[in-house]
Amino acid sequence: MIKSFAHKLQKVSTNLNISRIIRLIWDATKEWTSISIFFIILESGLFFSSLYLLKALFDTLSKHGVTDIKNEPEVIRAVIYATLSAIFYSAIKAISVYITEKQAGKVSEYVDDKIHRSAIGLDLSFYESPEYFDILKRAKDMGNDKPNLIVSTMVDIAKNLLSLILIGSMLIAIDWRLFPILALFVIPTMWVRISFADSQNTLRLIQTGLERRSTYLSSLLTSDIHAKEIRSFGLGHHIRKIYVKIRLDLLNARLKLSKERTHKELLTSMIATLGFFSCIAYIAIGSLHGKTSVGDITLFLVALPQSFNVMQSLSSGISTLYQNNIFVKSVFELFDLESSLKENPSPRSIPQDSQIDLELKNVSFIYPHAEENTLTDINIKMPAGKIIAVVGSNGAGKSTLIKLLCRLYDPTSGQITLNGSDIRDFSSFEYQQQICAVFQDFGKYNISVADNIRFGDIHHERSHRDVVEAANNSGANLFIDRFPAGYDTIMGRIFEDGHEVSIGQWQKLALARAFFSTSRFVVLDEATSALDATAEEELFDSFRERIGNRAALIISHRQSAVKHADYIYVLSEGRIAESGTHEELIQLKGVYYNLFNKNATTK
Ligand SMILES: Nc1ncnc2c1ncn2[C@@H]1O[C@H](COP(=O)(O)OP(=O)(O)OP(=O)(O)O)[C@@H](O)[C@H]1O
Ligand SMILES: [Mg+2]
Repeated sequence: MIKSFAHKLQKVSTNLNISRIIRLIWDATKEWTSISIFFIILESGLFFSSLYLLKALFDTLSKHGVTDIKNEPEVIRAVIYATLSAIFYSAIKAISVYITEKQAGKVSEYVDDKIHRSAIGLDLSFYESPEYFDILKRAKDMGNDKPNLIVSTMVDIAKNLLSLILIGSMLIAIDWRLFPILALFVIPTMWVRISFADSQNTLRLIQTGLERRSTYLSSLLTSDIHAKEIRSFGLGHHIRKIYVKIRLDLLNARLKLSKERTHKELLTSMIATLGFFSCIAYIAIGSLHGKTSVGDITLFLVALPQSFNVMQSLSSGISTLYQNNIFVKSVFELFDLESSLKENPSPRSIPQDSQIDLELKNVSFIYPHAEENTLTDINIKMPAGKIIAVVGSNGAGKSTLIKLLCRLYDPTSGQITLNGSDIRDFSSFEYQQQICAVFQDFGKYNISVADNIRFGDIHHERSHRDVVEAANNSGANLFIDRFPAGYDTIMGRIFEDGHEVSIGQWQKLALARAFFSTSRFVVLDEATSALDATAEEELFDSFRERIGNRAALIISHRQSAVKHADYIYVLSEGRIAESGTHEELIQLKGVYYNLFNKNATTK
């Protein structure tokens, strides 16, 4: 039983990543962890000495009989020592609460920052894979209080273990036989608690899928994104009922486990009580035979309930760790992830010529976990200063092409070159600075209008005039100028005083970022899809003037956006089907001609 108990403890420690948690806490704050360890030892030591001094007091009292007045100075001295030790113990206990809080706060900040660093360092493939995205989301969703809880639990476990060792050694000092007797009776209780924590953890892992489904359903009912459809389709109560059913199933499974634990605990607590009184009987009889002192009995009476408390806290500490194990695991899994985009260890510097040339050479690409190529054998030239367009039906691979061009993914085969050099030869950060993209699913930042535009180039000091000019170029000035607070207006409805605008107006703000950016290459992926026809036409009629001498790649389903391009590539099922100027492609009467619904004109 004891062997199997030790095995169980070992399994618990491995499951809970105990050594890794300790290393993480140490890395987060060596200073406060050292202070904390010192206080753990001090607190447990003082607890031990308080008990010991109490025993000394009773031994003094009983030395010459409790009524002997000659004992007075010795008794007073013993009382003073015991009192001082108890006061000191209480003071240290209070201070150590603060120390643990401070240590936990530091660990919390460290973990939070490390999560963000890991998240920034991961390439896009992680955000597009549900498996990895879940890890990231779980790690982040657990909030800042979890690291706090875990540190304080670890500190409690350390204190309790130390106290248990000290109490155990005290019992051995009274009579070594007490320890095994007690252990024999107490181990079943510990066993039940740890087994319960273990089963609880297994259940939680089994339930993860259902838990996530219920969280998703709850978010459908409460999020603003779905509020419109939920109401117009009358989906609210339908979804609520599915949610309630799942929550009930989850609860019932948990209650079943708790019921089993209660049955077992009833039995083991009776065994433990039996053990306690067996020890009392053993000591009392020993005392009658002059083997144990009154102090020993006192010590035993005080220490034993304490040891029960300590064991209780120990097992509840372990179950707290189990309960938060999903968080700990996700955090460690996240820390272990590595970006699949490899950085060149000795990158070349980006050519500083005023213009850059980009080219896709025989590029093929297959998404991670996908079975078929999304892009096959793509050859596209984007010469310096030219405006190139890519068109194609939904799912043709246009946005994927942009992701490769922005080096959010690397091609599976072939290469992308910048002035003739493979883009993987440069640092990805420096390369990405050369390109500015407005994505189909562009960002809506709930910050000021000016900052929304400044996000287009945060690495340089730029004037407010540049911000206004970018807004003028994108047409965003039309609505910004109507805001009483102008460029200081907070966008979106998340924060107080925020201004929500239409989707087309948001898109103009995203376009302003591209005009604000000084990168040498501009990419617009359906970046004008929400603009009204007049606004779009105006923008593209003078697009060359708006972007200066920069090169651009435009993706659009609208003829007005692409007809002015210097050269157009037509993508079909991941391959280049046709290429040429607008006029050439119309005359070809092929895919391009059909794409624009045969209404295209050469004008
Ligand atoms: N993250 C992804 N993982 C796996 N496959 C993907 C992923 N994103 C897109 N795909 C697949 O790649 C194909 C091309 O998608 P892409 O977004 O490039 O098309 P698109 O030409 O931009 O279409 P649209 O005109 O609708 O924007 C799609 O058929 C899609 O199934
Ligand atoms: Mg797309």
